[in-house]
Formats: sequence, structure tokens, C-alpha cells
Amino acid sequence: MLFFSRRRDLVGLDIGTNSIKATQLKRTRGGLELVHFGMATVHPETIVDGVIMDAGAAASAIQQIFTDHTITTKDVAVAVSGHSVIVKKIKMAQMKEEELQESIQWEAEQYIPFAIEDVSIDFQVLEKPPTESGEMEVLLVAVKKDVINDYLTVVTTAGLNTVIVDVDAFALENAYEISYEVNRDEVVALVNLGAAVMNINILKGGISEFTRDSAIGGNHYTESIQKALGLSYEQAESLKLGGEVEGRTLSDAKSIIELVNTELAGEIRRSFDFFRSSTQNEVIHKVLLSGGCARLPGLREYLVESLDIPTEIANPLRKIKADPRKFDPEYLEYTSPQAAVSVGLALRQVDDK
Ligand SMILES: Nc1ncnc2c1ncn2[C@@H]1O[C@H](COP(=O)(O)OP(=O)(O)OP(=O)(O)O)[C@@H](O)[C@H]1O
Ligand SMILES: [Mg+2]
Repeated sequence: MLFFSRRRDLVGLDIGTNSIKATQLKRTRGGLELVHFGMATVHPETIVDGVIMDAGAAASAIQQIFTDHTITTKDVAVAVSGHSVIVKKIKMAQMKEEELQESIQWEAEQYIPFAIEDVSIDFQVLEKPPTESGEMEVLLVAVKKDVINDYLTVVTTAGLNTVIVDVDAFALENAYEISYEVNRDEVVALVNLGAAVMNINILKGGISEFTRDSAIGGNHYTESIQKALGLSYEQAESLKLGGEVEGRTLSDAKSIIELVNTELAGEIRRSFDFFRSSTQNEVIHKVLLSGGCARLPGLREYLVESLDIPTEIANPLRKIKADPRKFDPEYLEYTSPQAAVSVGLALRQVDDK
């Protein structure tokens, strides 16, 4: 199985709806160091809502990144997210790994809204003491096989090998762990705002307590601007990113953006409420925003007010050394929230020993 397998020397390859990011790290005596970071935007029809529509175009974008940044490593770790991914913590009787391997197939059936033969299943026994009833907690991950296959095809077409298929929410968690102090009682919500999907992973003392993916992200802003101002998708996207289109700028879309902000905050609040109600009304101390959409002017401030929780923009590269002769520090700092998933994927090489 791919999800939790081990391998060395790889590139974290985040194949996103809006852009593909590639990160390679190495561990030196002084800590982690950035070896490569590259990003390429893909045409909006290449990947739609996390589904790869044009494998050739996605593969070309990957090849372009590898060529431009002279990345020669062939092994990559990719991640999937969205509604084709099911992540559940389940309780199972204590048993050996080999037995679990077999039982999990049966057990999984009741938690998965897809036919069991259509999904790839993996699991990890959570390192917690067994419950009083002698059960153990198991993290169950199921991903639709056709979705995995689409990603594998893109990677193969780009001339690379997939050695790990991870999940966006887990990659985020790994990136967080190496870049921030983890305090035992602190509850932190990692919120990754991509183009089509928002990934939420709430951690307590560094341990994931809740994950959810929602179909909302930067595309919602672009589409709303497009409709309201009668622009093409590309024009609306460019306006959103601070450009001027037909004499109009982002400030002309202020009210539209605020509407989407409200929608987005509502979706986050619903997840947070669900988390609180499924725990003992646990307090969320901090929100860490990542993904390209985290850079939308005013969004962080809006969320601080709306959720009433301190909210920061994440920098998953903050503890990773990057040679300023090779990487422009300003560019890295600005882009880092968008690099979160690829950083987490790149860590799979150095962490999985
Ligand atoms: N400076 C910026 N200001 C506002 N929005 C931005 C900025 N930079 C990027 N975005 C938006 O962020 C989104 C892309 O973010 P990201 O790269 O995290 O998504 P993705 O991984 O490609 O998509 P997904 O994970 O949903 O498949 C796009 O909607 C893009 O318009
Ligand atoms: Mg993404």
C-alpha cells in the first residue's frame, strides 16, 4: 500500500487545481534545507474540482517545473484530497498487524460511502494506549482507486515514479510539525485554502483530532467576480490577484469578495462547531491559514473577526534553511503558505526512516 510506505530521496509534488508545486528537502547537520522549490499554474480546465481532466497538460506542467529547476530526482510523493478521500478514526479490537490487515477490509465497509472494491484502503494504528475495553484506535484512509490512478497516470506521463500517495490534510500536519512549536494542550486548526478544496485538520498537542475537506476555495472568489463584473474567468482571476482589468481593480469587487468571505467563514465555523460538539467543547486556540487563497487581502482579518480566534498565515518554510543565492527570500516568504502541502510531502523522505 502506498499511503504510509517508506522511501528516501523524493520530491513532494502537490498537483493542485490551480497550480502544481514541487519541493525537495535534505537533512543537513544544521537541520532541514531547501533543495528545490518550483511552482507552475495550470489552465483552469486541466484539473477541475480535484479531478484531472487533461493528464497531458498536467504532466507537461510537472515536466516544466522539473526542467526549469533542474530537478533530477524521479521519485515523488503526491497527495489526494476532496470527496474521494475518506479519513476516519475507528476503534477495533486489539490484534496483530497481519490480522488487522485482513479485518480492516471488512471493518472499513461500514465507514465508506463507496463500494469497497472501488477504494484503496490503508490504515495506521494510532500510538495511544488501548482503551479500557481493550480496543485500539486505528486511522482508516480510503481513497477512490480511479482518483489514485489518474494521479499515477499524470506522474508516469511526466516520466516520474509515484512512491507515496498521501492525503493533503496529513501533509499539512507534517509541514506544521516541523515548522511550529507543538504545545501539549494547544488546539490548532490548520486551514488550507486552495482553489477548489479547503482542507481542515484540527490538532490537539500535535495530534490530529478532526479532518474535513470542503468544496470551497479560491475559485469561488474568481467565479463570483467573473459573474458580478461580467469578466472572463482569466480576467477575474487576474483582478483577484491584484491586476487591473478594463480599468477595474480588486476594490471594485469588494462587496463580492465579502460575500464569499462570509460563505467561507460559515463553512469553517460549521466544521469547528462539529469538532467542538464531538469533543468536550474543546477551545480552538489558533488558526493557521495556508494555501494560495490565504493571501487574499483582508481574508485573515475577516476570519479573526468572524471566528473570534487568533489567525495567522502559515509559513511552513520558516525553519527550513534556504540559500538566498538560490531562492529569493521575499518570494519564498510570500509563496510559502501555498507550498505547505508540497513541503509536507517532501518530508516523507526525511521523516520516514
Ligand atoms: N496573492 C493571492 N491573493 C489571492 N488569492 C491568491 C493569491 N495567490 C494565489 N491565490 C489563489 O489561491 C488559489 C490557489 O491556491 P493553491 O495553490 O493552494 O491551490 P491548489 O492547490 O492549486 O488547489 P486545490 O488544493 O484546491 O486543488 C487560487 O484560487 C489562486 O487564485
Ligand atoms: Mg492544494
